[in-house]
Amino acid sequence: MELRAERDSDVDNWKEVMLIYNAALKQITTKLEILNEEFHHVHRYNPIEHIKSRIKTSESIVKKLKRHGYESTIKNMIQYVNDIAGIRVICSFTSDIYQIAEMISHHTDIQVLSVKDYIVNPKESGYKSYHMRVTVPVYLSDRIIDTKVEIQIRTAAMDFWATLEHKIYYKFEGNAPAYFREELAECARMVSDLDKRMLSLNNEILRLESEREG
Ligand code: GTP
Ligand code: MG
Repeated sequence: MELRAERDSDVDNWKEVMLIYNAALKQITTKLEILNEEFHHVHRYNPIEHIKSRIKTSESIVKKLKRHGYESTIKNMIQYVNDIAGIRVICSFTSDIYQIAEMISHHTDIQVLSVKDYIVNPKESGYKSYHMRVTVPVYLSDRIIDTKVEIQIRTAAMDFWATLEHKIYYKFEGNAPAYFREELAECARMVSDLDKRMLSLNNEILRLESEREG
């Protein structure tokens, strides 16, 4: 671990910080699971396919601090690295993404710090996803700590694309040949088209079902 740990108290501090980020991940994951279960109970339908979560490695934290010109201290990491605790929520349909985002932002203990909608405004690469940075209170024995968590919400198709793009990006260290970039851009268009068509199909199914019931 490269984060400065010159004194024993720094090591203790690091362990405590990681424990807090882990607790925050658990809190958000549980909230999402409860919403999914309740949604299923009411609507007979799961908006969430699955949830992945991770804590950023100490190596990546140090790299990110360096990239932004900050010293590798625990204080800086807490202040400037917003994705130490990260959750990825995979949904079937684009409409699920907005429902999940709205439901989670209504939790009174959650504070939404920022939202980036890369579905309405995709990145130049073609990347699409809905990002929320939130804080969630973590209750310790003697204090409460509002802890930052980055939530990425995307469809299975967007996730498929982002995973491959990430792999290519790393393989070529950001300098992929034009052919790859063009091919990925084309795939991104296909992902958007697929998401749109699957959503209309699903809406059509729901309409037919409600007609039959009503
Ligand atoms: P960092 O990229 O984390 O430094 O923060 P930022 O302020 O630029 O936030 P942004 O919302 O752009 O990205 C946060 C995260 O989204 C990244 O760490 C990736 O997990 C994901 N992401 C953003 N852009 C891309 C992209 O073009 N391709 C892929 N595969 N993932 C991306
Ligand atoms: Mg970025």
